[in-house]
Amino acid sequence: MLSIQNLYAGYGSLEVLKDIGIDLQDHQCVGIFGHNGAGKTTLLRSIIGAVVPTSGRLTWDGEELPYGDVPATVKRGIAFVPQGHNVFPNLSVEKNLVIAGALFGEAFLSEVLQLFPVLQERRSQRAGSMSGGEQQMLALGMALMTKPKWLLLDEPSTGLAPVIVRNVMDGLRDVNRRFGTGILVVEQNVPATLKLVERAIILKSGQIVFDGSRDELSAKKDLWEWF
Ligand SMILES: Nc1ncnc2c1ncn2[C@@H]1O[C@H](COP(=O)(O)OP(=O)(O)OP(=O)(O)O)[C@@H](O)[C@H]1O
Ligand SMILES: [Mg+2]
Repeated sequence: MLSIQNLYAGYGSLEVLKDIGIDLQDHQCVGIFGHNGAGKTTLLRSIIGAVVPTSGRLTWDGEELPYGDVPATVKRGIAFVPQGHNVFPNLSVEKNLVIAGALFGEAFLSEVLQLFPVLQERRSQRAGSMSGGEQQMLALGMALMTKPKWLLLDEPSTGLAPVIVRNVMDGLRDVNRRFGTGILVVEQNVPATLKLVERAIILKSGQIVFDGSRDELSAKKDLWEWF
């Protein structure tokens, strides 16, 4: 279990996250929602080690995560797909995947290519010449090259057409089912994400204002009070 307890984090004198507590069961698929500036990205950055919390604890099966040390956190089994198309545009699809897997070798390459046939078809194409959706699949594939137990994603559907959003969500579901990878996904597209996740958390001004099942959130009529 990945456990976040009494977490406070921010930037200099700006306190963003206030007393966040979340227990994430292995293999869970969880969505994080909230208005702009609510602290969603800061939460993912705190887990991956790009932001050092001011106080609180981040543990995995009782062991503390390496605060502020991204490579060590990735080695521990957590991967992060930041917002935007984070690929090396001038390198081929295959080179992008190989570089992403440098810490772990290329053993996982064939599995990633199998999971995303579009990457197999385009493996020698320059990544920057692929469509936004294809680049997002590549960014996902790159994160998977580290064989993560947890995958953190920051708005993976931004800028994608609805049909491509569905492909990305289906890809995430496959990753969760086939590899048992836990998924923590920040999204603005609540309806599309609720088809994927089993649990939803809403952040407002750095605090959790809702944490419950997908069905509980779907049934809420006053959802927009939080946005
Ligand atoms: N590097 C930074 N330095 C200073 N302040 C920052 C930095 N990054 C974010 N902030 C501030 O922290 C607050 C939370 O930002 P964060 O990026 O976590 O929000 P978010 O919920 O991801 O928003 P969005 O939906 O717009 O992506 C905002 O007020 C933002 O201006
Ligand atoms: Mg953000």
